Amino acid sequence: MKKNIFSEKNDLEGKPIFKDESVFYPDYFPLSITCRETQIKELTFLLKPLLVQKKANNVLVYGPPGTGKTLITNFVLKELCEYTKKVNFTYINLIKENTRVAVLSKVVSLFGGILPRRGLAIDEILSRTQELFSKADFSPIIILDEIDKMDKEETSKLLYDLARFNVGKRYFTLILVTNYKSFILELDNRTQSTLFLSDLEFPKYKPQEIKEILKERIEYGLVPGIISEDLIGYVAGFASGRGGDARIAIDLLYKAGKNTEKLGQSEITKDLLLSSARLVDSVKLSEKIRYLHPEEYELLLAIDEGIDVSTLYVKLKFSERTIRRYLENLEKLELIKIETYRVGKAEKRRVTLSVDPELLKKE
Ligand SMILES: Nc1ncnc2c1ncn2[C@@H]1O[C@H](COP(=O)(O)OP(=O)(O)OP(=O)(O)O)[C@@H](O)[C@H]1O
Ligand SMILES: [Mg+2]
Repeated sequence: MKKNIFSEKNDLEGKPIFKDESVFYPDYFPLSITCRETQIKELTFLLKPLLVQKKANNVLVYGPPGTGKTLITNFVLKELCEYTKKVNFTYINLIKENTRVAVLSKVVSLFGGILPRRGLAIDEILSRTQELFSKADFSPIIILDEIDKMDKEETSKLLYDLARFNVGKRYFTLILVTNYKSFILELDNRTQSTLFLSDLEFPKYKPQEIKEILKERIEYGLVPGIISEDLIGYVAGFASGRGGDARIAIDLLYKAGKNTEKLGQSEITKDLLLSSARLVDSVKLSEKIRYLHPEEYELLLAIDEGIDVSTLYVKLKFSERTIRRYLENLEKLELIKIETYRVGKAEKRRVTLSVDPELLKKE
């Protein structure tokens, strides 16, 4: 009889490594949230006026990747909606819903409405939203995550309209979440002055905080004794050196666990952790370069061992202005560093790569 390939027992299959793999998945909602007491308190305080039917300011949540912005805003809003029926919220990720119509459809569904499949004009959708809002008996809150990912003009119009909706003294409360606080400056002036934002910063996590965050995943996710304290320290240090990003720490631990399982070893070793770390680096990098403009990618490759900005102007066929814009973006993404130096009276700018050039090649 033909044997099924899955019936084959791997000779290397050793002791189990994971108690529950799902605690390492991106959608896992931790039972305990640590190290963010200040931000939780601040957001709670900012939203409190809604409990007494007053207007709350809109909030701008900002900070680098993996610092708990999405987790904490969702957590606080869930708590708020459990506490009172006077408030309801919807979470919208603008990478997924990246047009005004898509976002407004989700807003309409917060009120229990559905938009017809035949396309409605924006004005019709807006008046539908206003109508549903006026019948609702709660204050609506909208989390707009990754707000900087949508087209700037679309974002300006969307925010302008949402910020101005009101029924008597009830308004939408908008929670904008982004990596760059400065994205606000790219919106049109009219929108900027309508928003009245309160800022809420999420700084990078320190190594000790990342260790604290990892505790729950280790306790519920791994079989006891699979990883030593020392190596947990290494994971925390690794993630802290890459922007204090808790997601990197969780990913690294998960990958190291999977590799240990694959090799049939009974504990996570330093070597395995190091090779998994390289893998995490290359995955993170490929995520970043996947979204680059082809010309930006070409510029990145042209930097090679390091190059003067003036040489780039000559070497590449794009305009100086375009090159400056690309450089700015690549620096923001921490793919390059730009340093200024002097030759006599002249000031020169030199660009170097911040990442391993080997990892830049697309497969
Ligand atoms: N304080 C914390 N306690 C427990 N888990 C945390 C904490 N902060 C972050 N995490 C976990 O780290 C991961 C990243 O967090 P989150 O998605 O909230 O980051 P983010 O700031 O929204 O990042 P990005 O800017 O990339 O969207 C998630 O798996 C989350 O559960
Ligand atoms: Mg997020």
